[in-house]
Amino acid sequence: MSMNDFAAIARCYDRFVGADYEKIIAFIDHALKKHFPDASLLCDVGCGSGTVTLGLLKKGYDVIGIDGSIDMLAEAQNKKSGIPGGEKALFLCQQLPDFELYGTVDAMVSTLDTLNYLTDPSDLDRLFYWFRNYLNPGGILIFDVNTLYKYQTLLQHYCASYDDEDVFLSWSSQFDGQLCCHQLTAFYKTGALYRRCDEEQLQRYYPLEKIVALLKKYDFELLGIGDDYSEDAPCAETQRLTFTARKKDVE
Ligand SMILES: C[S@@+](CC[C@H](N)C(=O)[O-])C[C@H]1O[C@@H](n2cnc3c(N)ncnc32)[C@H](O)[C@@H]1O
Repeated sequence: MSMNDFAAIARCYDRFVGADYEKIIAFIDHALKKHFPDASLLCDVGCGSGTVTLGLLKKGYDVIGIDGSIDMLAEAQNKKSGIPGGEKALFLCQQLPDFELYGTVDAMVSTLDTLNYLTDPSDLDRLFYWFRNYLNPGGILIFDVNTLYKYQTLLQHYCASYDDEDVFLSWSSQFDGQLCCHQLTAFYKTGALYRRCDEEQLQRYYPLEKIVALLKKYDFELLGIGDDYSEDAPCAETQRLTFTARKKDVE
């Protein structure tokens, strides 16, 4: 059984993830137009199957997507062939937190829990170091993390399944106050049989204060904290906090 490599679920991720990608992409595009109107080159960190990366490409940005899962990247690579100009998207297989780019970018985005997958807090710290290192002065950072509310109410003892013509997926989660363990089992129909693939994933809950402290440590100006890719302020039932920050010019 693999841990956190998305090998078991990459093939069906897009079908069951249930995220409002149009909203996410519109939020990022709007934030960039507002805070860095000349932004042209973006990096999607933990891009997975590339939906956000390619959505931003369609909005006219040059995009690089990095992810540690070759299976998720294979999905992204397939997807880009169906998009006009998709060949311009560059997908790189790299493990976080110590990723490398060829040069600096105008914005970094990291969507749908990618930061929570860094379960060692020192790795999260290093990721912010690299965010800063690879952003141009004034560059914009947009990312999300799951809230304690989501872990405690939704994921504490979670169990769900997803079913369609050729895949059955079961997903259960437990949260211990710090770490959330997800067990995923996918059955893929192959002829008359189903092939079983298991995966375990581990996430860490990071409080808002921890994220704010890291932004401060790495000289980011906090531009906003919103409720799940909206301009709304977070409330007690917010499941995902969205941070927008700008690299301060302190060289
Ligand atoms: C829930 S998916 C989100 C994918 C994409 N951002 C989206 O919005 O659909 C989290 C992604 O983070 C990647 N990831 C998690 N831990 C990682 C690590 N240590 N290094 C590189 N990628 C990682 C996974 O491979 C996966 O594609």
